[in-house]
Amino acid sequence: MRLRNVKNATSIIENCSFVIKNPKEYKGQYNKLFNNENDIHLEIGMGKGSFLLDMALKHPNINFIGIEKYDSIVCRAIQKIEPISPSNLKIIVTDALELADIFSKEITTIYLNFSDPWPKKKHAKRRLTSITFLPIYDNIFKDSKTIIQKTDNISLFESSIISLSKYGYTIEDISLDLANTDIENSLTEYEQKFMNQGAKINYLKAVKK
Ligand SMILES: C[S@@+](CC[C@H](N)C(=O)[O-])C[C@H]1O[C@@H](n2cnc3c(N)ncnc32)[C@H](O)[C@@H]1O
Repeated sequence: MRLRNVKNATSIIENCSFVIKNPKEYKGQYNKLFNNENDIHLEIGMGKGSFLLDMALKHPNINFIGIEKYDSIVCRAIQKIEPISPSNLKIIVTDALELADIFSKEITTIYLNFSDPWPKKKHAKRRLTSITFLPIYDNIFKDSKTIIQKTDNISLFESSIISLSKYGYTIEDISLDLANTDIENSLTEYEQKFMNQGAKINYLKAVKK
């Protein structure tokens, strides 16, 4: 997702109370930041923030952190989240490649919603379920490790199933048509767009003990 540069993005982000400006300083101590011992769930590539906000409101006893690498997109999320600002929601502006410097064994669930599919074979290692990222997730996960993926892209979905299975994850739940299941769901911006076009959404929940 590319957006036109938002004017004053740096100052919008700097002045936002729920954006963590110095995330590396909290490594291993995010529960202190939230002031509770609740589980911490992470959304990677949160985009404009609809999913994160809805999840935070539905689950006040879970802490949610969204990461996104583009300032201009984070600004759109801030616009959406700021009027409500739930205390269990924080944002970090970073690339997922940095995660092991930011967290230490403190995340229980990772959401990968409509991640960039990187369809070319030469770019396969950039996929967020590739062998580039799974060892990084190992470093930030607590004892329980859950990855939940939603995507419209069947090739990314296939490559995720292979990559996660090879890396020791068990696929505990799966659907090729999420809307026709009773799996609890919060929509993302991309998901809404694809559903409006009649697309079916692929869903998996992978767990590593
Ligand atoms: C296709 S969009 C999906 C956005 C949102 N999850 C949704 O479903 O509406 C993918 C998002 O992931 C972000 N992203 C991609 N790679 C990333 C990375 N390595 N680290 C952080 N964010 C990333 C992009 O900037 C973009 O906002």
